[in-house]
Amino acid sequence: MSDEHAKMTKTTPQQFFFALWGGLFAPLFAILLIVGLVAKIQGSHSHEESMAYNDAAVEERIHPVGEISLADPNAVHVDKTGAEVFAAVCIGCHGTGALGSPKYQDKSAWGPRIKQGYDTLIQHALSGIRQMPARGGNPDLTDTEIANAVAFMANAGGAKFTPPEAKAPAAAPAGAAPAAAAPAPAAK
Ligand code: HEC
Repeated sequence: MSDEHAKMTKTTPQQFFFALWGGLFAPLFAILLIVGLVAKIQGSHSHEESMAYNDAAVEERIHPVGEISLADPNAVHVDKTGAEVFAAVCIGCHGTGALGSPKYQDKSAWGPRIKQGYDTLIQHALSGIRQMPARGGNPDLTDTEIANAVAFMANAGGAKFTPPEAKAPAAAPAGAAPAAAAPAPAAK
């Protein structure tokens, strides 16, 4: 009986290894799997990406306070020509005659306007008139640029105004009175 008992409870080497495997290695194996999974998830967040983001964030924090803007207000301003201003701004309405504006090259629309004289047209373009916004809606345009654009459009509509841009290179001929000199063609 005691012999039997000893036989039954005797631990064989196999049993020992099963016990060791089940009790010790199995949990360890499970832990390794979990660690591996976590590492994989972490790995899917690109390291490069977060580095690039960090770099950008640091740049943002340490960049100098007083940055030099390339649009230096003290830079010498070169006035745009009438054609340039027209193409950039005025064409928005005058290209098609939108809002009842005198259409570019439409002589019957420009005739009566031209009769008012160059100076008056410039004034109206500068300060706006009815649906026509001041400076065509672009306050950055200088008086000279507006005058250039007015002459450009009016001349295409039959006027013969001398814009400031034409006078600038020469030593401004004395007595050039563009408004008075403009022979307004008969409207219609
Ligand atoms: C948002 C549309 C719009 C833009 C942009 C615009 N105009 Fe006009 N303009 C008008 C309208 C509308 C009229 C007609 C106003 C009226 O007489 O009722 C007009 C009329 C004029 C007149 C005639 C004024 C008069 O006394 O008869 C001149 C000159 C003129 N525009 C110049 C310009 C110039 C120069 C630019 C560009 C710098 C410009 N416009 C851009 C809408 C525009």
